[in-house]
Amino acid sequence: MNNEIVGKHAQHKKLESNILQISQEAKAMKKKYSDVIDATVGMLHHENGKVFSYQVVSDLLHHLSDPETYHYASVRGTKKFSDGVFNWVFGKYADTLKEQFKCSIIPTTGGSGAISNTFYNFNDFGQKVLIPNHYWSPYKNFAMEANIDLETFLMYDENFNFNEEDFKEKAFKLAKEQGRLCLLINDPCNNPTGLSMTIDNWKQIIKTLNVIKKTGVPVILIHDIAYIDYQMQSTELSRDVFSTFTELDSEILVVVIFSGSKTFSLYGFRVGAQIGLSKSQEVIDHFTRVGDYSVRGRFSSVSQPGMSVIEKIFSDQEYKQRFESELVIGRKLLQDRAKLFMEAAEENNLQTLPYKGGFFISILTENKNIFRDLVNDRVFIIPMRGLVRVALSALNIKDIPELVKKIKKHI
Ligand SMILES: Cc1ncc(COP(=O)(O)O)c(C=O)c1O
Repeated sequence: MNNEIVGKHAQHKKLESNILQISQEAKAMKKKYSDVIDATVGMLHHENGKVFSYQVVSDLLHHLSDPETYHYASVRGTKKFSDGVFNWVFGKYADTLKEQFKCSIIPTTGGSGAISNTFYNFNDFGQKVLIPNHYWSPYKNFAMEANIDLETFLMYDENFNFNEEDFKEKAFKLAKEQGRLCLLINDPCNNPTGLSMTIDNWKQIIKTLNVIKKTGVPVILIHDIAYIDYQMQSTELSRDVFSTFTELDSEILVVVIFSGSKTFSLYGFRVGAQIGLSKSQEVIDHFTRVGDYSVRGRFSSVSQPGMSVIEKIFSDQEYKQRFESELVIGRKLLQDRAKLFMEAAEENNLQTLPYKGGFFISILTENKNIFRDLVNDRVFIIPMRGLVRVALSALNIKDIPELVKKIKKHI
C-alpha cells in the first residue's frame, strides 16, 4: 500500500467498509433484483423510496435570488443564520444559555465539517478523544485526519443503561494520562444504537467534567446532536438535556454540532455549524479565532443556497411553522417503522438495543461474516464493531418482517 508519492503522514489512509460505498453497492444490486432490502443510509426516505424532502425547503430553494444562490458566503455566515440556528437548537433554553454563557457560531460543511474542525483544533497531535464504544465510524476518519485517535468507554451497563461508571473511570484515566479531556457524545438518538440518554446521565457527565476541570486540565465537551429533531418526543422535550449545561464549570468549552443535513434533509448541501459555549469569554474568543481560521483554511465557506434557505426558515414564523408540521410527519414515518421492527424482533427473539429515536436500530452480534451472509440474501445493513445497524430512515415498512427474519437467520 505504501508509496513514496504519498506523504508519510498519509500512508495509512484507506477508506474501509465505508457506509456510502455499501449504499452504492445496494443500489447497484437493486437495479438487477427487485427484492433487495436496503437499510444502509442515514437519509430519511418516504415509503415510495424518494428522499423525504421538506416541501417548505424545496419551495424556498426554487425561489432564491441570484446572490442567495451563487455568491460566496462569508466565513461566519449571516447573523440571521447564526441566531436562527442557536434558537432552534436550544429552544426554550436559548435565553438562559445566552445569559449564562458566551457563545459563538461557526458555519461548517455539515456536522462532519464541525466535528472535523473541533477534533483538529482542540487536541494536540497524538492525543485521544473519549467516545462510547459504539460510534458512527467516520469519527475515526475525522480523528485520523486530525492526527489524533479515539479512546472508548462502554456505552452500556449490564441493564443496557448508559454506563456512567465506565465513562467516569476512562475519563479520569485519559485526563490524567494526557493532560486534556476531549469528550464526544452523540445524543439524543445515537447513531448507531438509538440510545437517548437521561437528564440524570447528563448531570453525572457534567459532574465528572467539572471535577476533572478542577485538576487544571483543559476540558472540551463535543455534543453531536445531529438527530435531535428525530427523537420520539416533541421538539420542546428533546431540548431538556440543555437544562443541565448551566451546571458546567466556567472554563469548560462545549461545542454543539448542528447538522443541516439531518434537520432539513439538505444532505447534499453540506451545511452545519459548530456552536461554541463557555462561561469564559477568553475560551470563546479562542474558539472563534481558531474556528474562523480552519473554515478559511479547509473549505473557505459554506454552501450559500443551503444557508440562505435555513436562514429564511428560522427568521419567518410561517415558514418555521410549515417546517415544524412537516417534521412531525417525518418523525411519524420513523416511529411507525420502529414500532413494527420492534414487534417483529420480539416475535423472532431478536435482541435489539433499546430504541429511543433517530434513524437507526442496532442488534448486537458476534458474527463477523453477517454482512456478506445478508448480502447473499439480498439484504444490506451496516456492520459495525459488535453490532449490525439497520437504517429505519431508508427502509420501506413492508420490507420489515422479511428483513427481521433474514437478520435472525444469519445472526
Ligand atoms: C452521528 C452523526 N453525526 C454527524 C453527522 C454529520 O452529518 P453531516 O455532515 O451530513 O451534517 C452524521 C451523518 O450521518 C451522523 O450520523
